[in-house]
Amino acid sequence: MKIGILKETLDGERRVAITPNIAKQLIASGFELIVEEGAGEYSSFMDSDYKNVGVAVEKRAVIFHEAEVLLKINPFDEEDLKLVDKGQILISKLYHKSNPELIQAIANKGVSAFSMDAIPRISRAQDMDVLSSQNNLAGYKAVILGAFEMTKIFPLMMTSAGTIAPARVLIYGIGVAGLQAIATAKRLGAIVEATDIRSETKEQAESLGAKFISVDNEGEESEGGYAKEASADYLKRQKEAVNKSLFKADLVITTANIPGRKAPVLITEEQVMQMKNGAVIIDLAAAQGGNCEVSEINKTIVKNGVKVIGTSIDPRSVSTNASDLYAKNIYNYIIHLTEGTNFKWDLEEEITDETLIVQNGTIRKS
Ligand code: NAI
Repeated sequence: MKIGILKETLDGERRVAITPNIAKQLIASGFELIVEEGAGEYSSFMDSDYKNVGVAVEKRAVIFHEAEVLLKINPFDEEDLKLVDKGQILISKLYHKSNPELIQAIANKGVSAFSMDAIPRISRAQDMDVLSSQNNLAGYKAVILGAFEMTKIFPLMMTSAGTIAPARVLIYGIGVAGLQAIATAKRLGAIVEATDIRSETKEQAESLGAKFISVDNEGEESEGGYAKEASADYLKRQKEAVNKSLFKADLVITTANIPGRKAPVLITEEQVMQMKNGAVIIDLAAAQGGNCEVSEINKTIVKNGVKVIGTSIDPRSVSTNASDLYAKNIYNYIIHLTEGTNFKWDLEEEITDETLIVQNGTIRKS
């Protein structure tokens, strides 16, 4: 089974789907690998690194022509589809629910396509979950961005010129990104507080050294690890519980999301107006509408001396690690889908069933 690794073509993308280290593991499992020239150059993996572990380096057209399985991170696009052939297997993110035209175009080519963003949230799929592996890095990077934007340092520092008090960090949403943000801010010496609608996150936040801000969440139970939309009453209680910490915070990182919906507004403009001058809000939910009423994606807005930064902190900014983790997710996924080096096509099995969007030209999921 020959696997082809394509160079990403999406503007600004710096990652690569398979790194040399993971390529070596796939070869050891019996697969043959070919990689497009320069595929890893923006994540610091050179063609020679791939060659050294036994991967053939080829031009783009050769990869499309020879590989039975084609790997990418971002969805295959129109240009790619001109080059694919009936019977090939495509693996990438597809966002099939919001991309019906793409899925139809893939089906028209008579190929099969698996989507990495459709991996179910069950414990045995955790090591294949690209959303988690990439969000974890975003949580880390949010704190580093905060450190850069703040006019303060994080740790308590005793100097002959006096003592500097530690910075106060507040985190909304203790999912994958929020947990990593807590861990990173703690390591840098900040006083960290955090809140989440799911009560099981209390123990997780406390185990990393953060103070959990409890909000009565009766009637707000989550569904399968995801939060559901909070009631207006809950959001009111949350404000009452969190405001004291919010108005003292030097850095606020918001990560709260509800799958398939607009992000909840947790910080209103009125609250921003009561925050400390010089405080920074990093709104990681900005692309989903934002957790802060003031934020706008890819913009820094200053209100009352508070910097509100709307960003999705792209894992592309840490492309070496992001590629490493992404590649390991794909490796685990391919090993799961195959026996020897042949695909099992076990449609009774949940991970296969949920992620196989098109099979031999037939759309299975829409
Ligand atoms: P997410 O990105 O969907 O949301 C981030 C956080 O925001 C969540 O913890 C959510 O509870 C919180 N939130 C939503 N609305 C809120 C509100 N109104 N107020 C306060 N907080 C609010 O979630 P993420 O980071 O993707 O993960 C959520 C959970 O799923 C985690 O416990 C994670 O460990 C679990 N998970 C399990 C996987 C598996 O078993 N394969 C894979 C990925 C995540």
